[in-house]
Order: sequence, then structure tokens, then C-alpha cells
Amino acid sequence: MTTPPVPTFLRSRSAFGLTFDHTHMNKTILKRPIRPLFSAVFVFAAAAVTLCLRIIVSGAGRTQFILRDAPIVFNQTFLTFAKLDLGEDSLRQNVEHLVDGDFRNPKFNFQRSFRSIGRFRLDTGSRSARNGQSELNFRKFRLDFRRNLQNWWRNRRFDDDVMSKLVNVLGLKRKYKNKYKTCAVVGNSGILLKQNLGDTIDSHEFVIRLNNARIGGFERFVGSKTNLSFINSNILHLCSRRGGCYCHPYGEHVPIIMYISQPVHFLDYGVCSSSHRSPLMITDPQLDLLCARIVKYYSVKRFVTETGKPLEEWSSSHGGSEFHYSSGMQAIMLALGVCDKVSIFGFGKSDFAKHHYHTNQKTELSLHDYRAEYDLYEDLVRNPEAIPFVSSKFKFPPVTIHR
Ligand SMILES: *[C@@H]1O[C@H](CO)[C@@H](O)[C@H](O)[C@H]1NC(C)=O
Ligand SMILES: *[C@@H]1O[C@H](CO)[C@@H](O)[C@H](O)[C@H]1NC(C)=O
Repeated sequence: MTTPPVPTFLRSRSAFGLTFDHTHMNKTILKRPIRPLFSAVFVFAAAAVTLCLRIIVSGAGRTQFILRDAPIVFNQTFLTFAKLDLGEDSLRQNVEHLVDGDFRNPKFNFQRSFRSIGRFRLDTGSRSARNGQSELNFRKFRLDFRRNLQNWWRNRRFDDDVMSKLVNVLGLKRKYKNKYKTCAVVGNSGILLKQNLGDTIDSHEFVIRLNNARIGGFERFVGSKTNLSFINSNILHLCSRRGGCYCHPYGEHVPIIMYISQPVHFLDYGVCSSSHRSPLMITDPQLDLLCARIVKYYSVKRFVTETGKPLEEWSSSHGGSEFHYSSGMQAIMLALGVCDKVSIFGFGKSDFAKHHYHTNQKTELSLHDYRAEYDLYEDLVRNPEAIPFVSSKFKFPPVTIHR
């Protein structure tokens, strides 16, 4: 599959909404008494500064002045490298294999997977039914599986303006297609235990939580309100082994959105979507691709700058084709598309904090590059036009990081 060429990466200077206000600047400057000789110099300076100064309002409403004399220029080598999808071929083979459904292949025994995954749900419905009914269920399930997988694969193309479409794509019922006023994305880092941010988190209109992290007993630190549960498909896969595919630690009314980490998880999707009361959604594969490219860009950039090693050595220390953005990163991207303001909680680490607030997991997964993702979050706050691959048509909302 060839990816369409990515258009220019030069962002418009008004990308962040505010353009420089000359009047305001003069007022500030002229408050002080200025000697005539100096005033000419000042006016000249002000004019010069006007050319290269931009005002960025950061998430907390603070005003920052950032001096820049040229638009962001992305390193073409990094861009090209980040566009390259190392896992593409094996993913395609995997998808074709599943779609063709070579059901006699011992490597992938579809019927057995289906039975073991669907065991609980199907048994309750078809215990008294004859084999014919069960066979019918199976065939319908297989057709749905194939259709879902094919749709997903077909849509898996790069689109630099996918961010602008998220409000519609997400399918969350929005009155008048408005965005949510304020969103909190709650990561699972142990740094959450340092402060009582529970109430602050709950004060957001829309709260997104990750990978079904437990909140019971931690409300003081993490809040108790959940409006969207963001998971990776491994989590659903584990749920699907349980009776009734119970995957709702935040309540049955809370919609779930997941990204597909392995195509075979469409089996779990098939089993779980029919038993879920709230919507069970799958992330737009175009957003998946965008996230993959962005994180890889930051990771490669950091790797080359830090180690001075050639680009080609990046792969071996970053899991190669296994390299992946984290769920948290994609949840933030999603929030940027559906919210007017985004607050980030529980992302980041410290020597004194556990990796997860709710588990004792010690190590981070090497297939994620968290430090690269933190670089991205810093740019979200201070310098969103430095983020590659996103169309300049999309205006990033203000972002605040709570540490
Ligand atoms: C991009 O970065 C690489 C590695 O640091 C460097 O060798 C190359 O000159 C840079 N290219 C541009 C166009 O800045
Ligand atoms: C978010 O969840 C809370 C309670 O869990 C609910 O009261 C509120 O209406 C939800 N907000 C939105 C925007 O759906």
C-alpha cells in the first residue's frame, strides 16, 4: 500500500488562534516614560518584534511569549523515516490470513477460537437449541468478523486531517456536534498518588480513563467520574474470556473505545459488542496511523539527538516493528479532537512514584517510548505547530499538564 504524499508541514502562524496584537503591545510599552530619542528605537524594535513574536495562550490561560524568527521546519529525514511502517507487511499478511479464513489451518483454528471466546455467551443462548442454530450463529459471527476486519483494513490509510473529523467519527452523541468544553485524560502513572486531584479531575465535563484502571479506593487521587473508557484490544480480549464479556469497571453506561492492537481481536469485538449495553467503539484506523507516525517521529528525533547514532539503529533499540504508541498517547489525541480544552493527569514518572498508581508493575514496556511521548505533550502545551503530520486545518485546543 502506498501512502499519499503528505503536503507541506509548514504551519500557518495563526495556528493557535491568536495573532499578535500591536495595540496591546504598545500600551504595555508606553506605560513607562520614554525619552524621545529612545522612542524611535523602540518603535522600530516593536515593529521588528511584531514580526517574530507570537502569543500563545497555554492551557491554564497563562500568556507566554515565544520568540521565533522562522516557521517550523521539520527534518525531512525524520519525517520519511517516521512514515515508514515497519510492521505493515506482517500486518497485511495477518489480515489476509484472517479474512481468507483458512479455517483448516492448524495455526489458526477459527472455529476453536470462536468457541472458546464465545463459550459463555453462546452456551447460555443455545444450550437447548439444536446444532443447526449454533451453526447459524457461527456463520453470522464469521461474516461479521470478516466484514469488520475488512472495513478496518480498507480505512487504514493516512489522512493528515483526521483530527478534524474525530468529532463525527467518534460517534459519541453530541448535541449540535459541539465539542466538550473541558476534558480530563487520566493516565495511570503513580505520580497521581502525590496529590489529591480527584475533585479537580471530576470537575471536567468529560473524563477519559485508560485500560480499565481501578478507581475504587483511589477516588481522592483519581476522581470517580468516567465518561469514556479507552482501552487497547488486549484488555477486551481478557474480558471476553470472562462470562458475558464483562468489561465495565466504570459502570455499564460508560462507552468504551479501543484501538486494535492485533487484528485477531476482532473476534473479541464480535463477541463483546453484542453483549455490551453501552457503545463499544474502535478507534479510527486513520487516527492509529497518525499516532504511530507522530510518536515515531519524536522517538527517532530524540534517539538521534541523544545518542548521535545513525537513524538505522533506532529500530533495534525500540522493538522494531513492535514499536507502538501507548494507549495514553492515543487517548490524548482523541481528546484533542473532541474537546475545547484538555487537561492531562497521571502522565509522567518520577523516581518516587510507582509506574502505575493501581498496580505494582515495576518496569515499563520497551515497545513504548514514553520519553518521546512526553516530548510530544510538551509541544502540545507550548508549541503545537511543531507537531508533525497534522494538517494545519486542525487547531489544537489548549492543553494543561498536571504533575
Ligand atoms: C536531519 O537530522 C539528521 C540527523 O540529525 C541530520 O543528519 C540531517 O542533516 C537533518 N536534515 C535536515 C534537513 O536538517
Ligand atoms: C459524565 O459522567 C457523569 C457521571 O458519571 C455524568 O453525570 C455526566 O453527564 C457525563 N457527562 C457527559 C458529557 O456525558
